[in-house]
Amino acid sequence: EKAGFDHFMLKEIYEQPKAYRDTMGARLNDEGTRVVLPELKMTEDDIRAIRNIHIVACGTAYHAGLVGKSVIEKLARIPVETDVASEYRYRSPIIGKDTLVIVVSQSGETADTLAALREAQRCGARVLAITNVVGSSVAREADDVITTWAGPEIAVASTKAYTSQLIAFYLLGIYMAQVLGTQEDAAVAELLTAMQALPGQVEAILEQSEVLKAFAESIAKHDNLFFIGRGLDYAVAVEGSLKLKEISYIHSEAYAAGELKHGTLALIEEGIPVIALATQEELFEKTASNIKEVKARGAHVLGVVNEDELDLRKSVDEIFAIPKTMALLAPALAVVPLQLLSYYASLARGNDVDKPRNLAKSVTVE
Ligand code: F6R
Repeated sequence: EKAGFDHFMLKEIYEQPKAYRDTMGARLNDEGTRVVLPELKMTEDDIRAIRNIHIVACGTAYHAGLVGKSVIEKLARIPVETDVASEYRYRSPIIGKDTLVIVVSQSGETADTLAALREAQRCGARVLAITNVVGSSVAREADDVITTWAGPEIAVASTKAYTSQLIAFYLLGIYMAQVLGTQEDAAVAELLTAMQALPGQVEAILEQSEVLKAFAESIAKHDNLFFIGRGLDYAVAVEGSLKLKEISYIHSEAYAAGELKHGTLALIEEGIPVIALATQEELFEKTASNIKEVKARGAHVLGVVNEDELDLRKSVDEIFAIPKTMALLAPALAVVPLQLLSYYASLARGNDVDKPRNLAKSVTVE
């Protein structure tokens, strides 16, 4: 059942190219230049009437929502807030009929997410669910559903569900942009061409996991480490940090790279591992200078960059290059090395990778 892999998690990491292809699947036109979402009951007029969007989810799905916020705001220019479901209801969110609430849930059974969905509907909002389980509670109760076709996810640590959620957000963001006219047709076509290259690019990443295995073995001896990044890299850093914590039990913190000097630099001491994401071209120079700040204090740095920025090699201890893609799509590649890093760190520590302590695959209590 593990198809030759030692663990479900590794199998599911390797299934990502297929999950990307299946989730994009029939949602592009024949030319691959436009997004079509025939499953949506929401009309174009409904989309034009949306004034704000709340994305609500837990854990890894919440982290996908952090990327989703940037994607929708950038492409469709609608204001988006992303909330943790267990907090959402208790902050008296301002929900109206012109609010679209997007709930994201792999299982479709997470109690807090389901409660948020019900509260949003009670307040008159329309709810769109992004879920991996057809017929789940969230799928049944939402007004609209975009199914992620990642296939069953068995490992407790979510991998292919997260990346498929990213693909769903890209499709939704592009679709909204088409309806609202916020992006040129050529820009949409360019994004879709880049999206269709992602599965092959993930395959290329999976072929070079050795660097990550070696780095994972070195961090397995530490009790603390940091992930840093700016913009979308920060959103990915947060997910990388959660993944590492949940299966390796190594404490880590994800920090917006520019925030380090507002306190956290005090914790950077000789030998501490820092995983620095610098895939965003516009922010590269800024992140590179933050990397220098941690290096100057003795950090042992793994840089994750796109292949055009290999010069960073001089300023870090190890480097991992992801294939070149558009900045907005980089999270769908940059998270893969972090998943592998967590997997190998967990293995090096002799943990039960697929069933980490104290966690359940589906959390049905609030
Ligand atoms: C982390 C993980 C959890 C889930 C969270 C939400 O790897 O798996 O953080 O993402 O419990 O679960 P779903 O998506 O099923 O609502």
